[in-house]
Amino acid sequence: NTLKEALKDKFLIGTAVNTQQASGKDKAGAEVIRKQFSAIVAENCMKSQEIHPEENRYNFTQADEFVTFGEKNNQTVTGHTLIWHTQLSRWFCVDKDGKNVSPEILKKRMKDHITTVVKRYKGRLKGWDVVNEAFEDNGEYRKTKFYEILGEEYIPLAFQYAHEADPNAELYYNDYSMALPGRRAAVVKLVKDLKKRGIRIDAIGMQGHVGMDYPKISEFEKSMLAFAETGVKVMITELDLTVIPSPNPNVGAEVSASFEYNKEMNPYPKELPAEVAKAWTARMNDFFRLFLKHQDIITRVTLWGVADHNSWRNDWPMNGRTDYPLLFDRNYQPKPIVDLIIKEA
Ligand code: XIL
Repeated sequence: NTLKEALKDKFLIGTAVNTQQASGKDKAGAEVIRKQFSAIVAENCMKSQEIHPEENRYNFTQADEFVTFGEKNNQTVTGHTLIWHTQLSRWFCVDKDGKNVSPEILKKRMKDHITTVVKRYKGRLKGWDVVNEAFEDNGEYRKTKFYEILGEEYIPLAFQYAHEADPNAELYYNDYSMALPGRRAAVVKLVKDLKKRGIRIDAIGMQGHVGMDYPKISEFEKSMLAFAETGVKVMITELDLTVIPSPNPNVGAEVSASFEYNKEMNPYPKELPAEVAKAWTARMNDFFRLFLKHQDIITRVTLWGVADHNSWRNDWPMNGRTDYPLLFDRNYQPKPIVDLIIKEA
């Protein structure tokens, strides 16, 4: 049995896909994705830096490959991401001297970018992460270039441009640490404002880069319910569970789930201590129980990668870590959690 079979009537089960996998160069990876997952999202190849490296030059090669890969596998394909301050093309918000462009110019650039990219895959993608990570932990607007130049209005504008480019595409707002009360309130307010203005938004993406010690599951659940309350669907979009405690003091640690962390263990040894692996399985299982409990509001749960060696968390927030955040091990073999999820689905 497979994840996508077991979860078929519950929600889509997805993974981020890298270019090696989408191109088939990573054969083993491509095969697990085809077999186990019903949805895919682009890990990097659709970010502005990759797909639109210069104002007058797009690079669609990898994104085309990614979309074709999903179609061949009969998977639901999501685009990630149109407007984000990270992995942002250098030219996007500034002129040749590095000075911020005017509001008019930035609006035009946003519109050109969004229209070109969204139209290219029109009818082939289920939806887009339109804006990514616009808020700080405390709910203030993140002071990105987009915000500096256009203020709060850059968000509704991005959604409007995306909707005009593909009226049938679903549109999502996506962010991390969504269990924090400040960000929760800000996102609820954003969605209500968009809806009041008649601007399309279909779902909120809760990234779900979680740890053993954060967030509290009850706080995560509170956010899921608060988001659903606004009338949109909820998606878990970038799930991974690190074994290494967060350096962010804001995260709201769930002390009961933590274990002794010793800096000497960084990078972790090749083998994860058995008791940590066991605690990891239990915690990941708790999250999946939460998702199954709320399957009426959750449309998709996407892991941020297939196997541990795919994960960005090996190198973030410090280089050279060895982490164990995903459902498959470094040989693309399913961990015990996979059977557990299948059994409890
Ligand atoms: C990460 C990728 O996984 C890495 O390969 C890349 O180097 C940096 O970005 N939030 C997001 C994702 O929305 O796009 C990020 O992906 C992880 C955090």
